[in-house]
Amino acid sequence: MEKIIIHGGKKLKGKVSISGAKNSILELIPAALLTKEEVVLTNVPNLKDVKTFVQLISELGAQIDWDLESNTMRIKTPEITNTKASYDIVKTMRASVYVLGPLLGRARSAKVSFPGGCVIGSRPIDVHLRAMEALGADIQIKHGYIIGNAPIDSNGEKRLIGSTIDGKVREQDGIVITTHGGTVNAIMAAVLANGKTVIKNASLEPEVDDLMGMLNKMGAKIKRDINKKGVPLIIIEGVKELHGCEHSVMPDRLEAGTYAIAAAITKGKIRIQNTDTSKMGVFLDKLKDAGIVFEDKGSELIVDGSKSYAKGTNIKVEPYPGFPTDMQSQFMTLMTVAEGQSKIEEPIFENRLMYVSEFQRMGAKIKIVDKNRATFKGVDKLTAADVMASDLRAGASLVLAGLVAEGETIVHRSYHISRGYVGFVDNLKKLGADIKYSYEKPCL
Ligand code: EPZ
Repeated sequence: MEKIIIHGGKKLKGKVSISGAKNSILELIPAALLTKEEVVLTNVPNLKDVKTFVQLISELGAQIDWDLESNTMRIKTPEITNTKASYDIVKTMRASVYVLGPLLGRARSAKVSFPGGCVIGSRPIDVHLRAMEALGADIQIKHGYIIGNAPIDSNGEKRLIGSTIDGKVREQDGIVITTHGGTVNAIMAAVLANGKTVIKNASLEPEVDDLMGMLNKMGAKIKRDINKKGVPLIIIEGVKELHGCEHSVMPDRLEAGTYAIAAAITKGKIRIQNTDTSKMGVFLDKLKDAGIVFEDKGSELIVDGSKSYAKGTNIKVEPYPGFPTDMQSQFMTLMTVAEGQSKIEEPIFENRLMYVSEFQRMGAKIKIVDKNRATFKGVDKLTAADVMASDLRAGASLVLAGLVAEGETIVHRSYHISRGYVGFVDNLKKLGADIKYSYEKPCL
């Protein structure tokens, strides 16, 4: 099993280049299935989940050429030769469910293994399925598979039909929680549908805009709007077919935020390059509230922990543009050693405070209020320990904690981290961390 060993106490200094966004590339790849022409993706991050997705779409008929030197991926799907996304692949990567929309949109049928939950929550896909049914698809769940078929439209053609879709998942603590994935699947199903589709309560996450930008380059007709009640909309005019394009994956705002915390918590100074701070608004506001000194240069973020004195700060996770759920464990790592009290509210995923018990093993003073809330009281020092990564963001956060804990921290099950961070250990080593991978045979 893979683990990461860190000896804490080093101030990180230097520069790091941000990769393409995991939560964008995992949508752009299935979107390439929507055309028979070649789609060229650049700034593609070399991640485990990307490798998995390449395997999945190749089983559906896509021809892929992925040049790891230039981070360029060419995808061409002359014909979708298979509409089944098997259990073996879907069980390793929930995002596989994003092939549902493109398969129903282009191949007009789909058989996709029902994705399971994960440690951060049950991760239902009811909104995804309701969206497909709103577009006229017949959806059956049989033997663990979602079996979908497009209807026969007014021209006697088997084709999805434009409609109105609601991306709202629930209202909680006064906020409307929308679905990123459900919005993405609905967009990819609707672009080739017959007629107009309106997605109400559409996710505002920037990765969704990256997808829409690429689809519009391919000839789709998609735009954002807002209705009289202030509800965010995405409006799609269905077209008969899409053509190829070239598209660069947007920078990973979550990776950039993780390195910002690394600089702050180690009191070092890191120049974070090839990013886009315009998508990091609330996170940067909170970093400033916490007393962290940084220079925001748009495509570059220079965080100077040596001039910072972290103080307790309250975080309420909200859908974008609010504080991102994918940055809360990293930010709260800083709060474990900040001066004073902090509070976290995490309404998006029901189990996303799982990491707290691992931080408590390192001496953090944290009180769980309920499954969505915890209070932190900063301590002078964390102490090194053996800890367990539960998901990629919590895993990365435990590494951040290990960077400042006294002694040797071992982060077990660190394979989660390589799902979302390109060269995380190597980058931290280049920045001066005393860190390495270790492998041991799984105990039988
Ligand atoms: C995407 O997950 C991201 N993953 C997640 O990033 C991210 O945390 C999440 O969006 C929110 O920003 C990818 O893009 C691959 P949701 P997704 O649908 O689409 C509930 C990371 O660390 N819900 O926006 O699965 C759901 O349970 C990962 O990079 C339903 O109830 O998230 C959750 O409570 C983790 N029914 C809330 O909505 C549905 O049909 C938001 O989930 C869909 C979602």
